[in-house]
Amino acid sequence: MQINNIEISKSKLKLPDEVRLFDTTLRDGEQAPGVALTPDEKVQIAQKLDNLGVNTIEYGFPAVSEGERYAARQIHDLGLDANICGLARVLEKDINALLDCDLNYVHTFIGTSPLHRDYKLKMSKEKVLDKATSGVEYAKDHGLTVEFSAEDSTRTEEDFLLEVYKEIESAGADIINVPDTVGVLVPTTTRDIISTLKDNLNLPISVHFHNDFGLAVANSIVAIESGAEQAHVTVNGIGERGGNASLEELAITLNVIYNMKMKIDTTQLYNVSDFVSKLTGIKMPPNKPVVGENAFAHESGIHVHGILENAATYEPIPPELVGHTRKIALGKHTGANALKSKLDEYNIKMNEDQFCSVYDQVKDLGDKGKCITDADLKAIAVTILGKAKEEAVKLVGLSVSSSSGEAVSPTATVKLNINGEEKETSSTGVGPVDAALNAIQILVKGTTNIELEEYNIAAITGGTDALAEVFVITSDEKGNKATGRATREDVIMASVDAVLNSINKILMIKEEGNF
Ligand code: KIV
Ligand code: ZN
Repeated sequence: MQINNIEISKSKLKLPDEVRLFDTTLRDGEQAPGVALTPDEKVQIAQKLDNLGVNTIEYGFPAVSEGERYAARQIHDLGLDANICGLARVLEKDINALLDCDLNYVHTFIGTSPLHRDYKLKMSKEKVLDKATSGVEYAKDHGLTVEFSAEDSTRTEEDFLLEVYKEIESAGADIINVPDTVGVLVPTTTRDIISTLKDNLNLPISVHFHNDFGLAVANSIVAIESGAEQAHVTVNGIGERGGNASLEELAITLNVIYNMKMKIDTTQLYNVSDFVSKLTGIKMPPNKPVVGENAFAHESGIHVHGILENAATYEPIPPELVGHTRKIALGKHTGANALKSKLDEYNIKMNEDQFCSVYDQVKDLGDKGKCITDADLKAIAVTILGKAKEEAVKLVGLSVSSSSGEAVSPTATVKLNINGEEKETSSTGVGPVDAALNAIQILVKGTTNIELEEYNIAAITGGTDALAEVFVITSDEKGNKATGRATREDVIMASVDAVLNSINKILMIKEEGNF
């Protein structure tokens, strides 16, 4: 097999014909601190996961609440292609809760490691074995498809782990899952444990790897190379602590590097990631592989030159394969080719001297450590072309009041001139700056919906009369982003000026026919 000129000799591996993805975003993913999804949100995510093509959706844990059971029934009623699975301890009451929701797939578990037996369960090996087999038998007697996990299996004595899994196989389970509960496997130990299980068991093997050491995806790949037929994943890798193996990273590796058969429609990966990020409130770092904002962004002149000649030079994954887009970012590493292609993209025509001036300004801003968005570039270009128009939004007046008690909130009254029309409003906030920015957002709402993405403040001289430099990034409803900066003696004025500066750039980028 040859992809991107990487040769993988499949003959040395025990790769299964097809890999199944078991998505646990709605169960382990929801266990990420700070994440709580309503039943309706779970339904929406389940629908997206089904469209994406995961084989099984672990929707939640029916025994924990009425809301969880309600979500199970709602998802069940969607009639999705994917199996809908619920988590249950090896307890009859947990399995009954799942049966009450009409689900027919259970993921049932019990801790098997010495730590879990001695400190959490306070059970002997015999007792654990007995509980595990009776739970599996009970679930099978009630017609369920049973996936069994020996929790903390990777810190369980090898002979006991094998004994548990063999008993479970005899008890009628359908699939054996191997959870690396605290993410302690490395590729070598993953290969050892999965190969041993494959040699001694007949059931299909699944893996559930946590990412405490950043190895969950790599270990899942090694497990699949060693014969595991299924991997548990979560969208964006969310989950307990450092999270789980990320669906998008695993799916794209199996697709691009291993050319493996899977049900996943990779072109939906970016969209699903974005959707889950919005509903869970967990933002992706820009450098997150596959779905991060920088995953297909190029700044260095050398790279952009290569990309413009043949995208494969610096893109091992075509962005369209995951539904993402390529971005040419501007900064101090920008080369003339990149700048030219950006200007072409916006149909900005200029002569050689004007081009050199834009180029110098971009480099100059980059040297000062600034990033340059598309809106910034447009603002630079219109100024150099002499086409700069009067700013659409101007500050007419501002008054703020601060407070320390709980009874009165900090308030700001802002008057703006928006395209020649004066408008005024007051708003409160956690402090006077927040109040002023809230008031601006309200006033410009009819013109554009602005979100403050980033706000940074620095004192550039010392003392109480220090100059404050404020840097902001705002975005509009279409995802246009613009930076804004201002330096003033007054922190509030610097903040207001910086935000108005970026809003004016966003309005400029929206305006048709600038060039
Ligand atoms: O990580 C884990 O061990 C789990 C169990 C519930 C299988 O999520
Ligand atoms: Zn887990």
